[in-house]
Amino acid sequence: MNDLLAEAGRLLAAARRPVVFTGAGMSAESGVPTFRDAQTGLWQRYDPEQLATPAAFHADPALVWGWYEGRRHGVRRARPNPGHLAVAAIQARLRKTVVITQNVDDLHERGGVGAPVRLHGSLFAPRCSACGHPAPVPGDAPEPPAGPLPPPACARCAAPVRPGVVWFGEELPAQALAAAVEAASRCDLLLTVGTSALVHPAAEIPLVATRLGAPVVQVNPVPTPLDTVCAVNLRGPAGEVLPSLVRAAWPG
Ligand code: OAD
Repeated sequence: MNDLLAEAGRLLAAARRPVVFTGAGMSAESGVPTFRDAQTGLWQRYDPEQLATPAAFHADPALVWGWYEGRRHGVRRARPNPGHLAVAAIQARLRKTVVITQNVDDLHERGGVGAPVRLHGSLFAPRCSACGHPAPVPGDAPEPPAGPLPPPACARCAAPVRPGVVWFGEELPAQALAAAVEAASRCDLLLTVGTSALVHPAAEIPLVATRLGAPVVQVNPVPTPLDTVCAVNLRGPAGEVLPSLVRAAWPG
């Protein structure tokens, strides 16, 4: 591991325009569950067809809204972990670092990252399901919703407000996707952290970088489809590996 860290540290220290591409594993050590981890992943316990599609919201808006409000409640109480702080430290060192995330929590921002590119939206940006008008983030209840919770009505057209996240079958926000592809095309290093790299088109972002010759460094405790393309594979949790990587890149 030490040799791999040293090699990844050299790549990071030499980079001028790195991209950090993150998934749910980034926030796992903050207590935010991932989607596909064997014991703890959300999609092991819940059916995405019933919770994370436009048809699911149409069929049962209260079920879907209550579930996302429960997740938002959990995220509000979570704190950025040392991995989030290490990503912010990389950006502080290398000002052109672009952070691209699939996560819908706000832990990158609270960890000190400026304006991450959000490919899958945010738990903190509800909007009208009919007219798209932005809706206020609901007040923070002391307890998470116990189950289904009827969504608020849009102030403009009275249709139900929906979570501001991307669901299966929906397009990614065009501006964010364009910004991500552009950054991956121009980067000189892509650091991928805590993603299973199974959900497309987000999973193509690291491939854009490798195709154009930028090395990919991966941080993940388990194998992923990116194992075959990455230059350095750092097997371990983000909260431990990323601070070590920063120390390897800039000792002292
Ligand atoms: P997944 O749950 O698919 O993958 C999480 C990855 O994080 C796995 O490869 C884990 O091995 C890894 N992991 C777990 N703990 C970790 C830790 N402490 N440090 C580093 N890595 C760790 O989550 P995503 O790849 O983010 O989409 O999933 C992509 C998309 O699928 C999500 O954005 C979401 C989901 O359905 C939407 O909701 C649209």
